[in-house]
Amino acid sequence: MKIDILTLFPDMFAPLHQSITGRAEAAGIVTICATNIRAFTKDKHGKCDDLPYGGGAGMVMTPQPIVDCVRAVDPEHSARRIYMSPRGRTLTADIARELAKENHILFLCGHYEGIDQRAIDICGFEELSIGDYVLTGGELAAMVTADALLRFVPGVLGSEDSAMEESFSEGLLEYPQYTRPAVFEGQEVPEVLLSGHHENINKWRRRMSEEITRSRRPDLKNDD
Ligand code: ADE
Repeated sequence: MKIDILTLFPDMFAPLHQSITGRAEAAGIVTICATNIRAFTKDKHGKCDDLPYGGGAGMVMTPQPIVDCVRAVDPEHSARRIYMSPRGRTLTADIARELAKENHILFLCGHYEGIDQRAIDICGFEELSIGDYVLTGGELAAMVTADALLRFVPGVLGSEDSAMEESFSEGLLEYPQYTRPAVFEGQEVPEVLLSGHHENINKWRRRMSEEITRSRRPDLKNDD
């Protein structure tokens, strides 16, 4: 899979090259490439924004550098083009799973008060939000989306993590986890986890997941 990110701040994407997503990159499962939109502006001062027509606060990103950048990075329009914006549909695990099937995704990150609507229309961007709040730019939203979808790309997670993902897809929150020591500051690890009895352990974990989901997130769908 190829993930292109179009942004005025390519250095912000360093975290994607670390940890699990960085390992997936090193293994050749994904290529993550952040391109600076500013490199495409024809403005002699390097400007990529201007005052909004009709007045109002803030600046709007101009369409020319964005459209030229998109055409350079995805000349055949083979990528799924996604503009990160609070106006979009809200990211869910189902959307992340669906995006994980794409060969090529292009994220556009806006800044200031947004981008000229013609850039969105001409390039055929769909819009995607990560929640009902406004960030200072789309960069963190693109990183969240890339991280969430990469977890569904085969080979990115180890097999144990993948198994856990299945339990999440049933609409349950995670059961409590414990590691050594068996007693910490007087608090003991639940006895069943030390028993070695896998059937009982699985039953306990399922029950805890159900209780936690019921008390914290009764809105999550769980048909059992
Ligand atoms: N850009 C600014 N806020 C955002 C949000 N909530 N989701 C996606 N992109 C954004």
